[in-house]
Amino acid sequence: MAKRASWQTRFGFYLIAIGSAFGLGNLWRFPYVVGENGGGAFVLLYVLLSFSIGIPVLIAELMIGRRYGKGVVLSFQSLLQKQQKFRWVGYLSVFISLVVLSYYSVISGWVLHFLTQFTVGLFGNHLVTENQPLQLLMTNGWIQVLLASCHILIAVVVITKGVHEGLEKWISWIMPIFLILAFLLLVKSFNLPSTPDVLRFLFYPDFSKLTAHSLIHAIGHVFFTLSVGFGSLITFGSYMGDKDHLPTVGFRVAFVDTVVSLLAVIMIFPIAFQASNVPLTDPTLLFQILPQFLASIKGGEFFGFAFFICLYLAALNATLGLLEGIVSNIVDLMKVKDRSKATWISGFIIFIFSLLPAFSSTVFSRIQIQGKSLIEALDVVLINWTLPFVVLLQVLLFVRYYQAEWKKEDFIQEGNLASQTMFQHWLFSIKWLLPFLIILGFSLAIIYLF
Ligand code: PHE
Repeated sequence: MAKRASWQTRFGFYLIAIGSAFGLGNLWRFPYVVGENGGGAFVLLYVLLSFSIGIPVLIAELMIGRRYGKGVVLSFQSLLQKQQKFRWVGYLSVFISLVVLSYYSVISGWVLHFLTQFTVGLFGNHLVTENQPLQLLMTNGWIQVLLASCHILIAVVVITKGVHEGLEKWISWIMPIFLILAFLLLVKSFNLPSTPDVLRFLFYPDFSKLTAHSLIHAIGHVFFTLSVGFGSLITFGSYMGDKDHLPTVGFRVAFVDTVVSLLAVIMIFPIAFQASNVPLTDPTLLFQILPQFLASIKGGEFFGFAFFICLYLAALNATLGLLEGIVSNIVDLMKVKDRSKATWISGFIIFIFSLLPAFSSTVFSRIQIQGKSLIEALDVVLINWTLPFVVLLQVLLFVRYYQAEWKKEDFIQEGNLASQTMFQHWLFSIKWLLPFLIILGFSLAIIYLF
């Protein structure tokens, strides 16, 4: 089987996989989803699900990618062999990536907006005032279109430079800087008087706060934050060498991603509790409270600038992961020899799709689905419903059609007893636990709807 260009270094692979997992999902989405689902019990559910079902799917996707050496659509065609009637599962993954990327680009545009505000604040002596930047965004759809297009353009240009130069070099320096910065902000936010309440809210599991939707919300978020179900990991897997031990890779990526998400809520909630007038359940949570807080501390302009630069680069990395997945399928399927052409085509489609979420708070503000704005509704439909459904199908097909010896061969390291035991746990998780939990999550949410 022809292998694609593989990662120059194993470290490079970790960076790209972690870089794709770590993004707006951790810093923007996780905090308000935790707010929506009542705190501690949901955080616990999220951590448990990350390890019990998130990692097992992540490993399975990497296996598929490495074995077949192609993007999600062709990999599934190879996996299914004579059962091509399920071929659409691969296409569905690409479709979700496209739609998710369209609103991911809009939110990345918000980040770009705050980055410019803080840049002007830092270098131009124009203080960033509390709510003004967010209001400017929410009342002007065209600014959102412009910012989202800038973001898409940047991502397209980076991708057209090719796998290694395009991706690897960006990631190696963002993660460490970001972690240091998040840590410093965490220390500052920890000094706020609201911290004890926050710790109780986040880590004391009050199960009565969970709703019938919480299980499927947690499952959807785990898949989103680990980048599972979109096909990006299959694409990454196709670049991996035979020597890499996929379960170890999967575990490390998920571990880092979960730690970052926990750090994010510990950093953000003391500030959110302090600003008691802000609803914890709103998707603008991060963008409301952080600038307010930064405007109030010494050196806030600098922190804001550094924070939003890192957040932007993290969002860009995740975007690159999604875009890379889409492009590799276009190259595979349409036999477009020219990668740049495939990238520009994808960028254009994403731009068109992004118009809808970009005008969500203005032109389409009247469209409310169960009290949710268009962008929120899109997020719910995609992440809480479609994504778990796609992952369920992918996993069922993997369990059924991926040869039993290959599973063993890819998982078990010779002479390593622990990997044999883990293999049994892994099989149990993808065969029984994951399908059971997803079906339970869907059932609870559906019963609750009626
Ligand atoms: N995991 C990323 C985040 O949390 C989003 C993403 C999904 C990136 C799929 C790549 C592929 O922001």
